[in-house]
Amino acid sequence: MKLFSFGYSTYALLSLLACGPISSLAAPLFKRSGIQDNQPFSVMTLRSGDLYVHFHSLYVGESGNVYLDPYDHVNKSAVFSVSNGRLVHNNDYAHFGDNNALVFTSKEDGSAQGFSFGEEVAGGYLLNYDNDSLVACPVKDTSYVYSVYSAKGNGDSKCVGFGSLALAGSPSSSSSSASSASATAAPTSSGSSNANAQEMVTAGSADGKSSNKGPAPIFPNGIRLTNTSSPDSNSGNVYSPVVYQKGNDHVNTIFTFDVPQVTDKDCQLHFHIDKNGFPIHVDGSNGVGEFVLYNLSSPANDGTTWANTPNRIAEIGRFNCSSDGCSYTTDITCPGSYKTVSYELSALTDKSYLEYFEEINPVEGLQLTV
Ligand SMILES: *[C@@H]1O[C@H](CO)[C@@H](O)[C@H](O)[C@H]1NC(C)=O
Ligand SMILES: *[C@@H]1O[C@H](CO)[C@@H](O)[C@H](O)[C@H]1NC(C)=O
Ligand SMILES: *[C@@H]1O[C@H](CO)[C@@H](O)[C@H](O)[C@H]1NC(C)=O
Ligand SMILES: *[C@@H]1O[C@H](CO)[C@@H](O)[C@H](O)[C@H]1NC(C)=O
Ligand SMILES: *[C@@H]1O[C@H](CO)[C@@H](O)[C@H](O)[C@H]1NC(C)=O
Repeated sequence: MKLFSFGYSTYALLSLLACGPISSLAAPLFKRSGIQDNQPFSVMTLRSGDLYVHFHSLYVGESGNVYLDPYDHVNKSAVFSVSNGRLVHNNDYAHFGDNNALVFTSKEDGSAQGFSFGEEVAGGYLLNYDNDSLVACPVKDTSYVYSVYSAKGNGDSKCVGFGSLALAGSPSSSSSSASSASATAAPTSSGSSNANAQEMVTAGSADGKSSNKGPAPIFPNGIRLTNTSSPDSNSGNVYSPVVYQKGNDHVNTIFTFDVPQVTDKDCQLHFHIDKNGFPIHVDGSNGVGEFVLYNLSSPANDGTTWANTPNRIAEIGRFNCSSDGCSYTTDITCPGSYKTVSYELSALTDKSYLEYFEEINPVEGLQLTV
């Protein structure tokens, strides 16, 4: 069985989405009937728990190689299509070259044939090659930029298999780069400074060097939805947070973080979404949704439902958001070292609606700094 080599089993991926009426919970907004030949799509990588590989966009560098971060003189995530089983980017065709590296060239001859869409996951479809997952291996001279190989990898023991979630359409509605994402798409910002959030947004740069000066953000490793309309169902772990209030109906998202050693006394939660990632959907009265964050008495898990949601301890932040996105930072009580903590995001006012994909590069969603 070749599917998902390097220990990345279909089961592992699906277990992120396991239990209950997941398909309806995970993918309500960008429901698609499938991706057709020649239809553009963007790719988000899935590799639970691996900061360098999970929730990244793909970038096709000047060399034609494919990276999981802005690198090799390219800072805009790539749009692909599949044509007769061949993967196409800007009229170039995917080949597997030296060491099994995925590389785009203008030659159709000898290009790899065998790209196809597999299971439907979280609003998209898994993109496979020969019914196998692709593999990410670190670029030699950096430890944190990964590039893409066939399932055989390049022999480096740090290679990991990943799921390629293909989402129809282009990830960016504008031509702005990951690095120019910061200020313009931040119409609302309250509470403390949003400097850290902006630093995080500017962390990726075209030469692959990080310009991040603040503490490294910690991304949630669990995202779960609770729903008043299905109070006893759990969502399992999903990729696209959904938060809304429609009359008496509430859907909340609970973000769970594994906290490393905490040495600082300054801890913050950052929420940032903009139009540089996968499509966001925000609405509310006059187009502005109002949202509120709570800390919870215990972490959520795959059994968490509306009915058994851990108790809210306190409101820890409030922000407004529009369809352009928003940036918000709030100081929080530092969690304990090595603890698992959960925070809940809820709509404050009727008609407030928020849905997006949690991504690492470009940064989209909720992050914790400690
Ligand atoms: C919440 O549950 C209702 C009823 O099952 C369903 O129609 C709705 O799509 C759910 N919301 C989300 C975000 O899954
Ligand atoms: C991929 O799987 C499908 C369905 O099981 C099968 O028909 C097809 O031949 C497989 N393709 C390759 C290249 O193994
Ligand atoms: C991103 O790439 C574009 C086009 O190459 C370039 O003009 C722009 O300066 C780059 N931005 C950064 C921050 O590297
Ligand atoms: C929750 O937030 C309140 C208000 O900021 C704070 O006093 C409390 O210590 C926090 N508890 C936890 C467990 O984070
Ligand atoms: C959000 O917008 C509403 C309506 O304009 C305003 O009353 C409220 O103060 C704003 N909240 C924040 C946190 O900016």
